Amino acid sequence: MLKKNSAAMKTIYVLLIAIIITGAIVGVATYYLTRPSTANALTIYTWWTSGGESAALQNLLTLYQNQYPSVTVIPDAVAGGAGYVFKSVIKPLVLAGEAPDAFQVHAGYEMYPYVSGNYLASINDLWSSQGWTSVMPSVIASEVQWSGNYYAVPLDIHRANVIWYNAPVLAANNINASTLTTWSAFFAACQQLSQNATSGLVAPIALGDTDQWEATMVLEEMMAGQGMQFYQNFINGNITNANDPNLKAATTEFAEYLNYTNANHASLTWDQAAALVINGQCAFNLMGDWNNGEFKVANKVYGTDYGTFAAPGTANMYGLVIDCFEHPDGVKDPTNSLNWLELVGSAAGEMAFNPDKGSIPPRTDVLNNLTDIAQFGAYQQAAIADYKLITTQGTTNGYYLYPSFVHGSAMPESVLTPFNTAVNAFVASARLTNSAAQSAAISTLDSAMTSQITTSSGDFVKTWNLTG
Ligand code: GAL
Repeated sequence: MLKKNSAAMKTIYVLLIAIIITGAIVGVATYYLTRPSTANALTIYTWWTSGGESAALQNLLTLYQNQYPSVTVIPDAVAGGAGYVFKSVIKPLVLAGEAPDAFQVHAGYEMYPYVSGNYLASINDLWSSQGWTSVMPSVIASEVQWSGNYYAVPLDIHRANVIWYNAPVLAANNINASTLTTWSAFFAACQQLSQNATSGLVAPIALGDTDQWEATMVLEEMMAGQGMQFYQNFINGNITNANDPNLKAATTEFAEYLNYTNANHASLTWDQAAALVINGQCAFNLMGDWNNGEFKVANKVYGTDYGTFAAPGTANMYGLVIDCFEHPDGVKDPTNSLNWLELVGSAAGEMAFNPDKGSIPPRTDVLNNLTDIAQFGAYQQAAIADYKLITTQGTTNGYYLYPSFVHGSAMPESVLTPFNTAVNAFVASARLTNSAAQSAAISTLDSAMTSQITTSSGDFVKTWNLTG
């Protein structure tokens, strides 16, 4: 567990910042360590730098600025999808007592090191004064609660288990997306696309895994597709047998998926992979629905230019990726920080942000407001309908919400980095190799993941109940 900052700890973490932070990040960190104590400022850290991400964030910042014109708003962004780089920048800052007024964090385990080390103030009063308990679904509220106290405010709900496709490419190849409900049907379509010399595709599937998590995310949705009982056992740290049949089935599907991806996947970011689908150089990619923001920025029309379907085996599931902000203890501008959180959790804040982001609003009053819903594009209206169906039908009817482990919510951070490393090694060795080499790589991956779960067993401090 992290301990709150003594002077010695602070020195160590400041030194760590200097060591860890390289390249472009140096500018941000240097700024932060030498920042003038500007009176009345709001400093916000995020990793939102892609076209769709920045557009959505800017809407929210503008709204804040309009409401509090005397405050100097200082947004700082550390590029790198899913906070892959950001997390290694923000943590030393927070631990050094240099936290910004608020920073982006995922609900669930990602918050835990800050909560357990007392780096975040509990915001029960804000939750109560804003009436959030009555408009935030309990499943989401519980992800930002630790020991009964609230520590963060959810801004969005992203869906993880989505496959995106270029509609004209599928039409030109006579592929009907609605038939791709199993991985074998999906791979048959990929095979057909790769054999069709006239398709002009770089590859059937676009992957950009330069930050590693993008590939692990594909595996995550294949694991969810093995069924919620298996997924629940996995995130609760109970899959410790490398020969577990569901785990092997998922990693085997993953190996096949990789065979159809672009050769330059390791040098592309998630949004560059999205661009391959947007431009028709690839037919498909699996990605969370922040992808929709990229299609929107490119002026693509849902249903005409592109479409989506749930990753095979997960049609009755909604993989949750929830972005939040919190109130770090001892921030320089506590009032501005709390006003920011108030905006983040408000209907107006959610409506400023979510339509451009690709996500849906967590607040049920917004989700049930027809005027608000009309402001969302067609993809998000379909996502809202799916989310409502899944939450209304519930677990007794076989409909599930599940937290993403790749995005830091479902499992302790001590397993996530090793998972990404093992998956990255797997991608490098499994892709386009012969089947014997692939099977060996699959076994290595299964062993790496299960043994890491065993090694980190003491870090599983939460028991998820997804199946009801
Ligand atoms: C997720 C985050 C999303 C989106 C995505 C890609 O982890 O929750 O808001 O930003 O990463 O950067």
